[in-house]
Amino acid sequence: MTREAQASDVSESEAVVAEVPSNIALVKYWGKRDSLQQWPANDSISMTLSAARTRTIARLLPLGQVDQLTINGHRVAADDPSAQKAFKQLAYLRTTLGFDAPLAIQSSNTFPADCGIASSASGLGALTLAAIAAWTGQTSWDRLIGAGYTRELIAALARRGSGSACRSFFGGFVRWHAGHSPETQSLSVLASPDQSGPWELSDVIVIISDLRKAVTSTQAHAAAWSSPLFAPRLAGLDQRLKQVEAAIAARNLQLLGDIIESEALEMHAVAMSAEPSAVYMSRETSEFLAWVRARRSEQRLPAWFTLDAGPNPHLICTAEDAQRVADLVHQDFGYRMIIDTVGTGPTLFAAQMTANIQSENRQMRAVAEDLSW
Ligand code: DP6
Repeated sequence: MTREAQASDVSESEAVVAEVPSNIALVKYWGKRDSLQQWPANDSISMTLSAARTRTIARLLPLGQVDQLTINGHRVAADDPSAQKAFKQLAYLRTTLGFDAPLAIQSSNTFPADCGIASSASGLGALTLAAIAAWTGQTSWDRLIGAGYTRELIAALARRGSGSACRSFFGGFVRWHAGHSPETQSLSVLASPDQSGPWELSDVIVIISDLRKAVTSTQAHAAAWSSPLFAPRLAGLDQRLKQVEAAIAARNLQLLGDIIESEALEMHAVAMSAEPSAVYMSRETSEFLAWVRARRSEQRLPAWFTLDAGPNPHLICTAEDAQRVADLVHQDFGYRMIIDTVGTGPTLFAAQMTANIQSENRQMRAVAEDLSW
């Protein structure tokens, strides 16, 4: 990241604060039918997270100024490769919605910036929500919805910035339906068997490597079609999606766990056999996955893995078992971890006491360090 200057904190009182969580895909979004309209090759299912999220503060700047974007405390320039998705998304939102005021945007992750955990779902989600709230002057969900900006609409706009971002706009377990055309895409929250809220699962994110990936997921989505394994994958996915929905409805972790492991390995097999090929797992990742299976077969580790486009495994387990799972990983490997649980989705509020928000933001970066071992 270009460190042009240390961030100047957002200082006006009319700022809005959007917090959008990350999500972990249980059935992966991998491959696009249309990359411009972000139309995925298949439906995907994810669990919305809670602790791993992005907080973005936005306020209007006087006309004639340029956007000011600060990420994790550092001002980024419009030509900074790490901020390209963000500036492109702001341009897309302006063209689509007809707003032209420049914005001062300050974005911080609750997870350490250098930990190799994808931040595009929460980052692009929070950017979209904060920018729309600032432009429309609506500082709560109720008021945004009243102004015609439904959760579904904002999720669809965020999808253009990063596909997986759309699933973060709802809590619990979320299915992104590809539909029959880019326009008929939709999102649904998978029903909970009772009214007491979503299944209390945890995601213990194991940080094996914080190196930036050589092939971005956007590049790998495009390459997926060249893999000989991609067509058979798509042909079998309806069945897998049904099984995952059934496992979530029945709260059957063993069933869910076995499916998500096969699913993650299949996505990686597609990535590896595509042209260009992307190998996201490291030697340490393979060893770790073998360890998970061995410990589980000894009845010692009640957790199942999934992997996104990177080397860092996510261990899915009950919230009750999460600490025990993390302790076992710590004992055998000493890796840093983030212990997260299923969450309820984004929040939006007015930053009335900006000074407090600023100091909270600084604290959030400190908390981010605490979250990991
Ligand atoms: C492996 O949403 O990062 O995490 O739409 O190009 O921004 P773009 O891709 P992105 O892809 C996520 C891929 C994944 C699986 C998933 O989250 O479903």
